[in-house]
Amino acid sequence: MKKAIVLAAFGSRHDNAVASLARITECVRRAHPETQVCVAYTSKTIRGHMARAGEAVESVPDALDRLLAEGVTHVAVQSLHLIPGTEFHGLLELANERMLRGGFSRVEVGFPLVAGEAGVDRVVDAILAEALHGRSEHDAVLFMGHGTKHDGNVYYDCLHQAFQARDKAVHMGAMEAEPGIDTIIERFTGSGVKRVYLLPFLFGAGWHAARDMVGEEATSWKTRLEDAGIECVPVLKGAGEYDALVDIWLTHLDDAMRRLSRC
Ligand code: CO
Repeated sequence: MKKAIVLAAFGSRHDNAVASLARITECVRRAHPETQVCVAYTSKTIRGHMARAGEAVESVPDALDRLLAEGVTHVAVQSLHLIPGTEFHGLLELANERMLRGGFSRVEVGFPLVAGEAGVDRVVDAILAEALHGRSEHDAVLFMGHGTKHDGNVYYDCLHQAFQARDKAVHMGAMEAEPGIDTIIERFTGSGVKRVYLLPFLFGAGWHAARDMVGEEATSWKTRLEDAGIECVPVLKGAGEYDALVDIWLTHLDDAMRRLSRC
């Protein structure tokens, strides 16, 4: 039995996200010193940018091909995505396809950050334990998630409900889906919110945070909130920078490693 771990991230060229990914990779290497650990990017676009910059990063299928050629028999592919959407389900399909094709004895996929009903509570508790203190009565905290057309989008609303059950001032929205910024602004103006702490619910505070969250364009969340008369305090801290969230990803990897050994 020769094991390997593939950390499957969406991918980013942004310093914050790259640093977070390097840190989580280091944690995984320390926790599994006997096992080869490699990083792969699931975004074809980002892999293209990396290749053009002379810093090519493997895709997950390419990493699996290479590991198979190196004689690896058991692979845990750990999703570093936030919710189970297109990328995570793509990893499940890939793992199934590789198992059917033969070669590997086993390929297991570790869950993304938010996994299942209990996962929502766990993530929300972890974030609130590290979240902002010293807020005043008319302040709110707003997380900007990515959003997806995939059914997994339902998790953003689940996270919002879980935040609300603990702290009415904390909200979760999505950039490319509902609950979007229009819905959120309506809610804020209706409840007299004067100031908002704005944070990304993304692996890293990278391109989307810089452009869609705090960018100068008329469509960024910061501009939209300010146009609605709400002061904005951006906090550029990605999910990969919360120790408690990294711990959740590491637990999902432990589960995948356990499944890997059970055959
Ligand atoms: Co995007």
